[in-house]
Amino acid sequence: MCGIIGCAGRGGATLDTLVHGLSKLEYRGYDSAGVALSGSEVRVEKRAGELDALRAALDDADEDLTGSVGVGHTRWSTHGPPTDENAHPHRDCTGEVAVVHNGIIENYQELRDRLTDAGHEFESDTDTEVVPHLIEERLMAGDDPETAIRAAVDQLDGSYAIAVVVAGVDRVFAARNDSPLVLGIADDAHFLASDVPAFREFTDRVVYLEDGEFAVIDADGWRVTDGAGALVDKRVHAVDWDPEETGKSGYEHYMLKEIHEQPRALRQCLRGRVNEMEGRVSLDVDFDPERVQFVACGTSYHAALCGAHLLQRSGIPAQAFLASEYATSPPPIGEDLVVGVTQSGETADTLSALREARRRGARTLAVTNVVGSTVSRECDQTLYVRAGPEIGVAATKTFAAQVVALTMLALTTDGEQRDAIAALRDLPGNVQAVLDSSTAREVAEEYVDSEAFFFIGRGLCYPVALEGALKFKEITYEHAEGFAAGELKHGPLALVTEDTPVFAVVTGDGELARKTIGNVKEVEARDAPVIAVTDGQSDVERYADHVLRIPTSEPRTAAVLANVQLQLVAYHTAAMLGRSIDKPRNLAKSVTVE
Ligand code: G6P
Repeated sequence: MCGIIGCAGRGGATLDTLVHGLSKLEYRGYDSAGVALSGSEVRVEKRAGELDALRAALDDADEDLTGSVGVGHTRWSTHGPPTDENAHPHRDCTGEVAVVHNGIIENYQELRDRLTDAGHEFESDTDTEVVPHLIEERLMAGDDPETAIRAAVDQLDGSYAIAVVVAGVDRVFAARNDSPLVLGIADDAHFLASDVPAFREFTDRVVYLEDGEFAVIDADGWRVTDGAGALVDKRVHAVDWDPEETGKSGYEHYMLKEIHEQPRALRQCLRGRVNEMEGRVSLDVDFDPERVQFVACGTSYHAALCGAHLLQRSGIPAQAFLASEYATSPPPIGEDLVVGVTQSGETADTLSALREARRRGARTLAVTNVVGSTVSRECDQTLYVRAGPEIGVAATKTFAAQVVALTMLALTTDGEQRDAIAALRDLPGNVQAVLDSSTAREVAEEYVDSEAFFFIGRGLCYPVALEGALKFKEITYEHAEGFAAGELKHGPLALVTEDTPVFAVVTGDGELARKTIGNVKEVEARDAPVIAVTDGQSDVERYADHVLRIPTSEPRTAAVLANVQLQLVAYHTAAMLGRSIDKPRNLAKSVTVE
C-alpha cells in the first residue's frame, strides 16, 4: 500500500532523506514513486516502477531538486494504472501545491466534476489529484496555506493520510483519517510518515496521529491540532527497536532474515509472560470471555484459526472469520469478545470488522505487532506480539509470534499448564533446530518444476497447511492450495497427479495423525509425491518421498515448528524461480483499502 514521507529540515539533505525514507517504505508494496521539494517553487519528480527508476530520473534531471522541505510517496495503484502521470505527488494548476496521499477519496468524482467545470485541468486518473486543486481554490480565495488545506480536507469523504507542501512555505502540512500517519521528532528536522522505519535512522521519538487530526512540521518544531483547530496535547513515544532491525543483516532477502529471526521474535513474545515456577501465563489483558470471535485477513486469519482451535481446546467456544466477510456473520452476544488479529494493525478489512463488532455491542481485543497502530488505539485492549519490525511482504515471524501470543491467551483460561508452558519455553530453541537442520532447499530443488502444490493437515495442522499454501503462492506465483486433509477426497483429489507434490503436515501419533495418514495413502495411490512434515511420532514417513523433520513437541507448539519448514520450502522455491521475494507482484504488506 502507498507510503508517505514528509521532511522539514535545515540543511540540503532533504531529498536524500526522502528517497531513503521511501526505500524504507518499499516493503508496503508499490508500483510507482515520486518526490516534491519546496523552495520558492515546488519541483516534482515521479516515475512508474521501482524506486531505482525515480533515482535515475533524479540523476538525469537538468536541475537538482533542492529545498529543505519536501514530501515523497510510493504508490500502490487503486485509481488508474501505474504510470508517471498517476504517480504522486500531484499538483494544482499553478504548480505551487504538491500533495501525496494514502487511502481512497470516495467522493472524488463529484469533486473532480465540479473542479473541471470551474476550469481546473487534471493530468492523472487518480482520486488524489482533486486535493491540490481544492487547496488552490481556497488559496485563490485568499486563505493562508493552513486554512486552505484544512478547508480542502473538510470536503473529502473516505480514508486518507495526506501530506502537502506549498511553494514559498517552509512547512509540511498533514491530515489523517483512517490511514496511518506518524510524526518523528529529531533535533534539526521533523518528519511525517506512514510508518516509523521511514525516519527511524534519524530519531526514536514519535507521535502517533489520530483520525481527524492535522499536523504541521517545520525545521524548528511541530504542532498537532484537532478538526476545529484546537491544539492537541500529544504524547511523545520512544520507539524501542533498533534501526539495524530494519536492515537485511547480510541475508539475501528480508524474508529469509525474518524466518531466521523467529527464535528471537518468540523469546520477545514470551518474555515476562510465562511463569514456569507457577505453571501460569500472565498477560497484560483481561481475558474472561464467554465466547470469542476472531476477525483477520491473510496470514493473520490462519493465526486466528489456530487461536480459535486453541480456545476451543480450553473449553471456550470460538470461531474465526475472514474480516472482509464479517459483516454477514452472526452477531456477537452477551459477553462475547471479538479479537482482531493483524500484524500491521492497519488492515482496512480487519479495522472495519472490528468497528462492526463494536456497533454490535461487543468488546474488542487487538492482537498486533505494531505499537501505536490504529487497531491498538481503537480496540478496548491490545496484546502485542512483539515480533519486531517485519519488512518482507510475506508474513513469517509475525505469524509465529501471533500463534504463540494466542496460545498464551488460551492458556490464561486454563489454570495450571506446566506441559504447555515448558513447550513454549523450548519453542525458540526448537525453531532454531529446524532452521539449522532443514532440508527444505533439497525438496524445493526436486519439485520446483511441478504443476501445482497441495498442502494438507487436520486440527491445528489444517491452518498450517493453509498458511503453507498461501506463503507458497504469494512468493513463487505457482498454483498452491491448502486443504483440510479429510476434504481431499471430496473434490481436490481430482487434481492430484504425479506432477502435484502434496505436503502432509502430521504431528503426534493420535487419531488426527492416523486419519491424515489415511489421506496420505489416498494421494500416494495416485502417484503424487508426498512430503511429510512431521515430528516422527507417527509412521507417516513410510508413505512419504521426503521428510521435513521437526522436533517432538507439545501439540500446541508443533504447528509453529511445522510452519517454519513450509516457509523455507516456499522461500527456496521462489529463490530458484528468481521471484521478487520481498515484494511479490500485486501484493502489499499493509492493505489499507477494503
Ligand atoms: C496483506 C499481506 C498479507 C497479510 C494480510 C493481513 O494481504 O500481503 O501478508 O497477511 O495483509 O495483514 P495484517 O497486517 O492485518 O496481518
